Amino acid sequence: MLLRDGSAPSDQTRGSDAAPADAGKAGARGAVRAVLAGVGAYLPARVVTNAALAETVDTTDAWIVERTGIRQRHLAGPEETASFMATRAAAAALAHAGAGAAEVDAIIVATSTPDEAFPATAVRVQAALGVTRGFAFDIAAACSGFVYALATADAFIRTGAARGVLVIGSEVYSRILNWQDRTTCVLFGDGAGAVFLRAGDAHGAGILSTHLHADGRHGDILHVDGAVGRRDRPGHLMMKGQEVFRQAVTKLAAAVDEALAANGLTHADVDWLVPHQANRRIIDAMGKRLGLPAERVVLTVDRHANTSAASIPLALAEAVGDGRIKRGDLVLMEALGGGLTWGSALVRY
Ligand code: COA
Repeated sequence: MLLRDGSAPSDQTRGSDAAPADAGKAGARGAVRAVLAGVGAYLPARVVTNAALAETVDTTDAWIVERTGIRQRHLAGPEETASFMATRAAAAALAHAGAGAAEVDAIIVATSTPDEAFPATAVRVQAALGVTRGFAFDIAAACSGFVYALATADAFIRTGAARGVLVIGSEVYSRILNWQDRTTCVLFGDGAGAVFLRAGDAHGAGILSTHLHADGRHGDILHVDGAVGRRDRPGHLMMKGQEVFRQAVTKLAAAVDEALAANGLTHADVDWLVPHQANRRIIDAMGKRLGLPAERVVLTVDRHANTSAASIPLALAEAVGDGRIKRGDLVLMEALGGGLTWGSALVRY
């Protein structure tokens, strides 16, 4: 498939298996499952190491690595907007699924850094991909955005409202960071990840369940203090890091247990944890809680930093692309972000 600008998408999903044979042959309305037919990713070419950051802000590589596990991040160039990166990740996901524009019924982009207040980033992506039907919209749930978007797409597919859905997380947090604030600017990176979901057999592979939560009482511990509608304040990301850390450990543990219990499964059934990539210490704590060896936890935070709504699909695309995650594996995803919002998804890949 070619993008509207004539370029070919890069398929960052080398070596992965084809979609299950039952994908796309859904039964009666309601008796379907959303199958992860394809995954794709896009990362800006520019890589900034901790050492490079330490030249402009009062920090050290040792502090960042010890507290977060982050060693570097990709940062967007001027032309790399949320829609630009989302389009490339989506095209790679479609190519991986062997799907064309005609199969796309809906596009959902999870982003807190859209190109414009409107139209939605998803609509820009729709046009760039040459999709001329269906519907498209954005979801703002900060770092939980991909899980929220996945749950929304799953609902559309289960009810028969859509059969092919692109779910994309795309973020340019570099544009909302205060680059003088060392407590936040070292933590984030830019990028996009995407999955193409196809209606499949209710008893086969696919999304088993999703679990979403929000508690607005904690809205101020992680927020952007401005918006397009606020001329007085363009907005910077503000965070009470220790409070977010505390909330993450308890709420994510509960969300993971909730997903397993809903499906009558236990920790021992999980093949892969694909967590939101905010902090290595949080990720390690979750892996340990599940009793998973480190090699069963997909980790990208060291190279990508926190890419918010893009982090889970980026990690998924990497682990599918290098052959770690195989068809039939049980994959557990979880995320927590500004809102607070949090949630989990259990998927049979
Ligand atoms: N470089 C060097 N020193 C830094 C620094 C940096 N980039 N950022 C903060 N510090 C300093 C602080 O000023 C403080 O100094 P002080 O003791 O002299 O006051 C010291 O390091 C400890 O700061 P603290 O905030 O207590 O560190 P921490 O161990 O809590 O680690 C986070 C900070 C942000 C890494 C950690 O709280 C965290 O990961 N929180 C969760 C964040 C998260 O996941 N957010 C995204 C959710 S989607």
